[in-house]
Amino acid sequence: MNNKYYIETYGCQMNVYDSELIASQLINTGYKETSDIENADIILLNTCSIREKAEETVHNRLSSLEYLKKKNPNMLIGVVGCMAQNLKNDLLESKPYVDIILGPDSYRKIPDIVKSRHTDLNHVVDTKLSKYEIYNDMLPNRKNGINAWISIMRGCDKFCTFCIVPFTRGRERSRPIESIKEEALQAVKKGFIEITLLGQNVNSYSTPDGNFSILLEELAKIKGIKRIRYTSPHPKDIDTELLNVMSKYQNICNYIHLPLQAGSDKILSRMNRTYTSDQYLTLVDEIKTILPDCSLSTDIIVGFPGESEEDFEQTLDIVKKVKFNFSYMFKYSSRPGTKASNYTDQLSEDVKQKRLEKLIDLQKKITLQNYKNYIGSIQNIIIEKKSKKSDKHWVGRTDGNVWVVIEDNGEKIKDIITTEIIDAQGVTLFGKKIDKGKLYEAA
Ligand code: 5AD
Ligand code: SF4
Repeated sequence: MNNKYYIETYGCQMNVYDSELIASQLINTGYKETSDIENADIILLNTCSIREKAEETVHNRLSSLEYLKKKNPNMLIGVVGCMAQNLKNDLLESKPYVDIILGPDSYRKIPDIVKSRHTDLNHVVDTKLSKYEIYNDMLPNRKNGINAWISIMRGCDKFCTFCIVPFTRGRERSRPIESIKEEALQAVKKGFIEITLLGQNVNSYSTPDGNFSILLEELAKIKGIKRIRYTSPHPKDIDTELLNVMSKYQNICNYIHLPLQAGSDKILSRMNRTYTSDQYLTLVDEIKTILPDCSLSTDIIVGFPGESEEDFEQTLDIVKKVKFNFSYMFKYSSRPGTKASNYTDQLSEDVKQKRLEKLIDLQKKITLQNYKNYIGSIQNIIIEKKSKKSDKHWVGRTDGNVWVVIEDNGEKIKDIITTEIIDAQGVTLFGKKIDKGKLYEAA
């Protein structure tokens, strides 16, 4: 058998992980990956619904694939992930050439679907959400040789009023510590040196054997794991215990992605974020006390329904106060089915666009200033790849998640290099190797 699969992944890291799970199932069923879509027997799009634009991109992509199905009617085209969950009826109607529609809790069906594809020509649709599915017994087929994504919990119970995730991914459920440890050990055996723990709400992690801090500590003790990252936490679930564990272990990165979303208490409350701007700032202070120099990044939405000019100014104020290293900034996108989509005071596209540009402008200046402050500091970087601009240079990341360019002096990918930062331009730091990295050997 020489069947080939092609998977295209949109959206968050959880989708990257899920695509790796799906790939390993297809491989176990006798399929091989192809990077040539025209040659594939199965094409799967692993999709995202977080903003309207993400869905539009996939709709356009699907339209562009119809000709392949005409050329080869035996080919299977599948839409999996959040959009499958969210738009099943719409997809069935508007894209009848889509054969498979599977929500995020239905990936176990894939081997059976592909095995029976010659006898059963019907559409396969399964978007049932499960309270229990954590794909505990499945190992992903990983590609990148440095960082292994590991899913530790799935779903979200927070119900921020703008967010579709609780509807597309269902209720929160956590994976047992032992099985996560096992996956981490396997990754180390395969040569991965960094792990990133994933969850829609990673620090809501909760099992009878321990909470997120306990899990993190268990993983930090594994020999061979040089760096641990996690994404995304909710500010409400960050506590002193977690910060203390982060400070105790050198291989837990000094970096927190701390989604702010908005700076006005009125908007935060309408978003159901469950913290005020003061509580957020107090948390930032506590982080900086326990983890001095901790690198912070954030997510911000501008133009949420009812956001006045003054509310928006309060977002800018917090950005100025916290001085995030970088921010993911979005225009509010109304998601049918969420509470905020029913709010009557939606803002115009024009207002949202102007606010976004203003925020991006501010963040750019802060990033550049923060990066200039790194000049003269010593950072350990893990070499990840060749620089796009010059093959005489490597690029690697600091544990604060900042990219650094250094000269290639015969090092290898995955080497840990102690570097002095000598320049900052845009969102890139330039460094000079000063000595062999010793810092992580204790890990
Ligand atoms: N519109 C714009 N941004 C959104 N996000 C989530 N839902 C929406 C929406 N409806 C952003 C949030 C979240 C990030 C993953 O995506 O900032 O933290
Ligand atoms: Fe969405 Fe809020 Fe859950 Fe994050 S915490 S996935 S923003 S509902």
